[in-house]
Amino acid sequence: MISVSGLVKRFEGRDVRRTAVTGLDFEIPAGKLFTVLGPSGCGKTTTLRMLAGLERPTAGRITIGGATVYDGAGGTFVPANRRPIGMVFQSYAIWPHMTVIENVAFPLSVGADRVPRARAHARAAEMLALVGLDDVAQRSATALSGGQQQRVALARALIREPKVLLLDEPLSNLDAQLRERMRAEIRAVQQQLGITAVYVTHDQSEALAISDLIMLMDKGAIVETGVPQEIYRRPRSEFTANFIGVANAFDGTVSGVEDGALVVATPHGLVRVPPAAGIAPGDSVRVFVRPENFTLSRRRHTPDDWEATVRYGIYQGDCWDYTVEVGGAEIRVRVHKEKAGLTHGDVVHLQLDGAEAVIMRVRDGNVVPSMPPPALEHSLS
Ligand SMILES: Nc1ncnc2c1ncn2[C@@H]1O[C@H](COP(=O)(O)OP(=O)(O)OP(=O)(O)O)[C@@H](O)[C@H]1O
Ligand SMILES: [Mg+2]
Repeated sequence: MISVSGLVKRFEGRDVRRTAVTGLDFEIPAGKLFTVLGPSGCGKTTTLRMLAGLERPTAGRITIGGATVYDGAGGTFVPANRRPIGMVFQSYAIWPHMTVIENVAFPLSVGADRVPRARAHARAAEMLALVGLDDVAQRSATALSGGQQQRVALARALIREPKVLLLDEPLSNLDAQLRERMRAEIRAVQQQLGITAVYVTHDQSEALAISDLIMLMDKGAIVETGVPQEIYRRPRSEFTANFIGVANAFDGTVSGVEDGALVVATPHGLVRVPPAAGIAPGDSVRVFVRPENFTLSRRRHTPDDWEATVRYGIYQGDCWDYTVEVGGAEIRVRVHKEKAGLTHGDVVHLQLDGAEAVIMRVRDGNVVPSMPPPALEHSLS
C-alpha cells in the first residue's frame, strides 16, 4: 500500500544542519494500522509529514497505492491536497466558528471536487455516527470536550474517503482514561473501514494496544519492525527490550547446553534460555527477563532459585509489582496471586521462566542485535 525507500530528511538552518531522518526503507500493508514509535526527536513527525506531502524529503522515494508521490531522483512531488490521505493531529485543529457538522463537512465544501451542501451534510452525518457523535451535530464545535473534539477531527479526516489515514499523537492531549477509550475507538473505526492507517506515538503501551505492526525508531533510523507480540516478547535489540515494557537485564556467560537449552551463569544464579543463532558456550551474553516471567515464593523450590530480598510492592489492581534485591541489583517482578503480607526485608525465592527470556550476545561490552527470525517477516501476510 505504502512503500518507502531511501527516505532522507535534512533540515538546513543558517548555522545548523540536522539530519532528522537518515534513510528509511519500509512497507505498510493495505488495511493495517502501522505505528511509528520512538522517543522524542527520533523523527516520527518528520516521517509522517513526508508521507502527507507537508514536508519535502531530501532524498528517496514514496509510493501510495502504487502511485509515486515523491521521487527525489525523478523530481516528482505530489502536494498534500492531491495525495489520498486524511490527517489527525495532536491539536484538534477544529474551526471554532463552525458547528460540529460544518467542521466535518468542510473538506467536501471546498476545492474543485466540492459537492452540494445537502450532500456534504448528509455524508458528515454518517461520519459523525461512525465516531459516535450524531447527537451533537448542531452544537458549536468549541462546546465539546477534548475527546469529542478529537472525534470531530477524526470524522473530518475520513470524510473524503482517503486511502490512508495519518495520525500524529492524536490522543496526547487527553487524560489517561479517555486516551484508552479513544484508542479503542480509533482502532474500531480503522478496522470497520478497513483503511490503512499510520499512527505516530511515543507511548509504547499505546503502540502495543492499537497496532498491527510497530516500527520502532531511534535517532532518525529504524531500530526494528514487527507485530506487537513479537516486539514485546522477542525484541532483537537492547534498545527495543528497554523501550518496550520493563526488562530486567542480566550479564553472564554461556556455560553449556542442557536438554537443548543454553545455560547462562549470571552473578545471581543460572538461567536456562532457548538456543539462539550465533550464541555458543563461552560467549558473553545479556539476558533480558520481563517482570511477569518470574515466580516469587517464600520457600525455595529448585536449586536454581535466586534468593532475593523484598524492597517494596505496589498494588496495581490486577497484579502486584515487587521490587526485590538480588546481590545488590534491583529486579522488577510482577505476580498475579497476592503474596499476603510480603514487606520490606522479607526473603523470597525467584524462579525464572527462561523459555520467555531473550538472550543477546555481548561483544566488547556492547550488545549485538540479533537477526530477525525468518518466520517473522511473513507473520502478517
Ligand atoms: N522544521 C525543522 N527545522 C529544523 N529541525 C527540525 C524541524 N522539524 C524537526 N526538526 C528536528 O528533526 C528531528 C526530528 O523531529 P521530529 O519532530 O520528527 O521528532 P518526533 O519523533 O516527532 O518527536 P516528538 O515525539 O517530540 O514529537 C529533531 O531533532 C527536530 O529538532
Ligand atoms: Mg512528533
